[in-house]
Amino acid sequence: MSTVVRVENVAKQYRLGAEVIHALRGVSLEIAAGEFVAIMGASGSGKSTLLHLTGGLDLPDAGRVLVENADLTRMPDRERTLFRRRRIGVIFQAYNLLPNLTARENVMLPLLVDGATRKLIEERASEVIRLVQLEHRAAHRPDAMSGGEQQRVAIARALLTQPAVLLADEPTGNLDPANSRMILDLLRRLSRDMGTTILMVTHEAAAASGADRVLVLSAGLLVGEVATEGRGDAALVAARYAELAR
Ligand SMILES: Nc1ncnc2c1ncn2[C@@H]1O[C@H](COP(=O)(O)OP(=O)(O)OP(=O)(O)O)[C@@H](O)[C@H]1O
Ligand SMILES: [Mg+2]
Repeated sequence: MSTVVRVENVAKQYRLGAEVIHALRGVSLEIAAGEFVAIMGASGSGKSTLLHLTGGLDLPDAGRVLVENADLTRMPDRERTLFRRRRIGVIFQAYNLLPNLTARENVMLPLLVDGATRKLIEERASEVIRLVQLEHRAAHRPDAMSGGEQQRVAIARALLTQPAVLLADEPTGNLDPANSRMILDLLRRLSRDMGTTILMVTHEAAAASGADRVLVLSAGLLVGEVATEGRGDAALVAARYAELAR
């Protein structure tokens, strides 16, 4: 299996006045093509920081981040921006849709700004909207959709460019249990049926249990890994997580 994401000994500090916060203290991980990996950890353990660095949204103080063998930490800013736009899909807890555009228009944006042909953009948009099963909502604006539907629009938008990896930071954080379930099932299905490579941050065992494996982050360090064995067993993940994060 080819490696899509390689994070090598990454460290990140934040300075707040005189205080230095060690958000990541040397984290390494690899994600193979088609893998669905979850990262669990307490609030403040460095999950979002790790996701942002993996996606080239921010740069580490030490270490390297490679996506498809391209080193994001050595790229000129402009090149990294382009690489991110084309090869990395990101979704967040907040859906970040533009309120005045329809679902379909929101989905098309990443390729519109990239100057792709209208035909390609229309084809891809239809394809990803079908993947997230939102054909019937394509003409709706965000405020006329449920939270779960808005997150599915955000997922479709993130997949439009057929990225190397989909990064998700607490994608179900704003959703009720039924909508959370739907989003997690969708991610599982994208991984299984489409071979989408996924890295998802969450603090919920139920969410993490849908992944192929779960990495546990504690105070800026990876402290262990839980193999879910594809069973979606939330109780098992919760129990192993409690041991590791102690
Ligand atoms: N821009 C920033 N400036 C200063 N400190 C920061 C900044 N961003 C994050 N931190 C600190 O770095 C640490 C890790 O933050 P991070 O957001 O990665 O945690 P997290 O695991 O995602 O937490 P949560 O579950 O609450 O989202 C925390 O102590 C946080 O306060
Ligand atoms: Mg976070």
